[in-house]
Amino acid sequence: MELSIFFFLFGVLSCYAHAAQTTQSFTSIFCFGDSYTDTGNFPTLAAAAGWPSIFTSINPPYGETFFRHPAGRWSDGRLIIDFIAEAYGLPHVPPYKAYNGSFNQGANFAVGGATAINVELFEEKGFVKFNMIRDSLDYQLAWFKELKTSLCNSTEGDYEANTGCLKKYNDLAFYHNLLLRQELMQLRGKYPHVKLSYTNYYDPVINIVKSPNHFGIINTPLQVCCGKDGPYNYNTTELCGMPGVNACQTPSTYLHWDGVHLTEAAHRYIATTWLDGPYADPPIRAPCTKLKYK
Ligand SMILES: *[C@@H]1O[C@H](CO)[C@@H](O)[C@H](O)[C@H]1NC(C)=O
Ligand SMILES: *[C@@H]1O[C@H](CO)[C@@H](O)[C@H](O)[C@H]1NC(C)=O
Ligand SMILES: *[C@@H]1O[C@H](CO)[C@@H](O)[C@H](O)[C@H]1NC(C)=O
Repeated sequence: MELSIFFFLFGVLSCYAHAAQTTQSFTSIFCFGDSYTDTGNFPTLAAAAGWPSIFTSINPPYGETFFRHPAGRWSDGRLIIDFIAEAYGLPHVPPYKAYNGSFNQGANFAVGGATAINVELFEEKGFVKFNMIRDSLDYQLAWFKELKTSLCNSTEGDYEANTGCLKKYNDLAFYHNLLLRQELMQLRGKYPHVKLSYTNYYDPVINIVKSPNHFGIINTPLQVCCGKDGPYNYNTTELCGMPGVNACQTPSTYLHWDGVHLTEAAHRYIATTWLDGPYADPPIRAPCTKLKYK
């Protein structure tokens, strides 16, 4: 084994940043690559592979400038990816194989010396005369897949393409409303002289979600006016009304007020659809004498 192996770098810097849907902020960074990007996987993997520690970045003077101790990086201080993370207010991307904390804000799968193509090819062709680190891009992507399963209970298939809503909750609402209407029919049979109006919350709200611009909702319809953090500006531990949690400038351009309740603007629209239709059956203002139940 030669020292030169550590300069056998493919310069693979490939980051996947998970962005909030319409804002410019990123909520997490996932990285793949080699020692240009590795923030600490290599020492752990090299030790596991029985490589001598003298060849690893665990020794001084690595890290002396910023971390003041070796920090798993192949430099005297921070890497490009560290500065990118800082620019987005995110923590330094933790190395997937050498960190026991949360990967909610990203994970670094890069490994010093890793290749993009699997090492077997290089070995078969006799291109190299030394042991290569085996954690090529295929391995790194497999780790990502493994992490994704534990990080996200919801996969893309769980969301409706046209609204961004979780499908199963909307399906439940739809089913609830179906049963509600059936129940109302029975009640109408039982109390023919009582005006019973079926008012539907789901349809007007989904209308706004689908065509926010028609309703003066210029912000992304799933985003909360008064809240904090995350892609929806909503965090269950930092709710509207708590210190440090502020409302948006113009609530009338939002559908959601606090993440559970809607804004006045939304209420105004829903009320009109109930007073005069079409989302109330019969509309509240329909004269009792002309009722004709569907
Ligand atoms: C992570 O936890 C394992 C088991 O508790 C421990 O052996 C290992 O040293 C920890 N690694 C780091 C980087 O803290
Ligand atoms: C995913 O859901 C399952 C079942 O509800 C739960 O046990 C698990 O902890 C969840 N995982 C995450 C990362 O939220
Ligand atoms: C929500 O707030 C808690 C407590 O302040 C914080 O630790 C967490 O990171 C926040 N979540 C998001 C998605 O920003």
